[in-house]
Amino acid sequence: MKKILIIGAKGMLGQELVKAFKHDKDYETIGWDKEEIDITNTKEAEKKIKELKPNIIINAAAYNDVDKCEDEKEFKLAKKINGTAPGKLAEIAKKLKAVFVHYSSDYVFGGNLPEIEEPQGPLRLDTEEHRRIEASCSHSCGSCGLHAGFMPKIGYLEESKPKPINNYGKSKLLGEKNVEKIGGKYYIIRTSKLFGKPGSGEGAKKSFFDIMLELGRKNKSVRVIDDETSCFTYAPDLAKKTKEILEASKTPGIYHVTNSDSCTWYEAVLELYSQSGIKAKVKPVTAEEFPRPAKRASISTLLNTKLNPLRSYKIALKEYLKKEKI
Ligand SMILES: NC(=O)c1ccc[n+]([C@@H]2O[C@H](COP(=O)([O-])OP(=O)(O)OC[C@H]3O[C@@H](n4cnc5c(N)ncnc54)[C@H](OP(=O)(O)O)[C@@H]3O)[C@@H](O)[C@H]2O)c1
Repeated sequence: MKKILIIGAKGMLGQELVKAFKHDKDYETIGWDKEEIDITNTKEAEKKIKELKPNIIINAAAYNDVDKCEDEKEFKLAKKINGTAPGKLAEIAKKLKAVFVHYSSDYVFGGNLPEIEEPQGPLRLDTEEHRRIEASCSHSCGSCGLHAGFMPKIGYLEESKPKPINNYGKSKLLGEKNVEKIGGKYYIIRTSKLFGKPGSGEGAKKSFFDIMLELGRKNKSVRVIDDETSCFTYAPDLAKKTKEILEASKTPGIYHVTNSDSCTWYEAVLELYSQSGIKAKVKPVTAEEFPRPAKRASISTLLNTKLNPLRSYKIALKEYLKKEKI
């Protein structure tokens, strides 16, 4: 039996990781959150983890407030939680000969253009799927075909050079570098736009879909950004994929795990309201019309070249809405 320690166990992803492992008799699953460990208190953390002697350490703890992180004091805290602490956890794991899993973000990219692959084979522009997407798309991002999966795939590869454009991305990149520097048997799993049941920690936040459901039920119309493209990720799908990576004993390194079907925020809200029967009008706007403290990239899609892809976010969203009855 393997002893697995999940840190950040009350978070959106952490709670799903606990669920994914605790029913499997091959694992003894221990979930710790802020009450049990402060990952920035490295001495205490080392002492506690060494006493436990886990075979696998998963770090799902993080500082996650992208906009607040533009404040210098918050950035300092983010660098401790997202930057320094993961390196220390990787070091502890290496000393214990344990496998270490850490999560990073699409926001480590954005400051340089993503690679563009040429289309494979002829474009299929006459399909029902294409007509449906054409009808629902505002065309403002100029890449409708991308979303149907028959145009060039635009995004960042696992080995693309990171170049963050906001402080949160910088703090996550620092974490990646510190984990890589330690080496050992580590997995850095980059993901983007998590959705699922909110965590239960004091800083737990609702995901974009939950916020948009509330807004759509209260208002006749909503304005949503349509010039930022990336992928949504259902937390339970990411948790199961993490288990798969560990059990397949994949080569250590960086992995990209998101649900399939890249889209803009606007396109995702069209899908959400269509699935949940919300009649509010959805108006596409540009990022410039909707200013936020932290800059975001127009494309931060993570391309996965190492693993079987996850299902479409649309199917995962259907499951989420049904399961959580929201
Ligand atoms: N959410 C997204 O859209 C997204 C996108 C890309 C990547 N990611 C990455 O995916 C991973 C999981 O994200 P998530 O959304 O599940 O995070 P989350 O819901 O914010 O959960 C993180 C957990 O860590 C705890 N925590 C914070 N500081 C800690 C500390 N010093 N010591 C111990 N625990 C601490 C938090 O407690 P409190 O709530 O009490 O602070 C919370 O329970 C993170 O690495 C994140 O950067 C997330």
